[in-house]
Amino acid sequence: MGDLVWNAEWDTGVELIDQQHRQLLAQFDQVLKALQVKGQDRHFGSLLAFLADYVELHFSSEEALMVEVGFPDLTRHRAIHDEMRARVRALLEDYETSSDLVTFELLEFLTNWLIDHISVEDRRVAEYIRTRPVA
Ligand SMILES: [Fe+2]
Ligand SMILES: [Fe+2]
Repeated sequence: MGDLVWNAEWDTGVELIDQQHRQLLAQFDQVLKALQVKGQDRHFGSLLAFLADYVELHFSSEEALMVEVGFPDLTRHRAIHDEMRARVRALLEDYETSSDLVTFELLEFLTNWLIDHISVEDRRVAEYIRTRPVA
């Protein structure tokens, strides 16, 4: 994986979400690069913790937005977020257990998961927001 550059196709058109997605991807990029360039140095744990916090911040605000606009598929979308939350928790636990468990491949997998989620599921939310009947 080269530089993780934002692809305009991932934009949903909802500004708050797009801003957070860009930030989130930048965060993943930083973690992947840190691992590639220096391996797990003494800052690596805090990079991971920051990433995990940012994932949570983003999911919560996206869920709040879905509630606010009455997105009909909220339950399923939240369940998908919960799956990612569990993976991120597992990542931190793995790191605590043995930092060797946190591999480039694992981080790359999570990054790709996120990109897929953005381009499929989050796009649906944005489409709903754009086309919903205004009360
Ligand atoms: Fe989402
Ligand atoms: Fe999202």
